[in-house]
Amino acid sequence: GNRTFSMIKPDAVAAGNSGAILKMIEEAGFRIVALKKFKLSEERAGQFYEVHKERPFYNDLKKYMSSGFIMPMILEKENAVADFRKLIGATNPANAEDGTIRKLYAKSIEANAIHGSDSDENAAIEGNFFFSGLEQF
Ligand code: GTP
Ligand code: MG
Repeated sequence: GNRTFSMIKPDAVAAGNSGAILKMIEEAGFRIVALKKFKLSEERAGQFYEVHKERPFYNDLKKYMSSGFIMPMILEKENAVADFRKLIGATNPANAEDGTIRKLYAKSIEANAIHGSDSDENAAIEGNFFFSGLEQF
């Protein structure tokens, strides 16, 4: 697939790191197809991470993801999903490789700066969660 979905999370936006992160994304060869900035309600944040609803951190995750501005975006590049997961690094920044976005900007395993879809199928579902069809050209 040639597209993925990403979201800069509240910790990174609040810290003033969104510009630096967008620069890294573009320098890695991704085209920003669509981009927004707004706040999620706790309910809507819970819907986005519904797959984790049985996990012990789900309630904290909903609160965190609705605690400030987020920047959802659709990205385009050959091999987008896998290449983007590589660019962002491991979920826990303590395990993230040098030079990855999470190594540079994540604060903790929860406040980890950025999201990246884990499959082509989820990239499409997540893109459609935030953007209308007309916004995805
Ligand atoms: P995403 O790109 O955001 O989906 O992260 P991921 O695919 O690397 O991790 P995963 O889908 O397993 O978890 C989703 C999000 O839940 C993570 O990015 C963290 O923000 C949060 N999270 C994951 N594991 C933990 C945990 O053990 N504790 C807490 N507090 N939050 C976690
Ligand atoms: Mg995930």
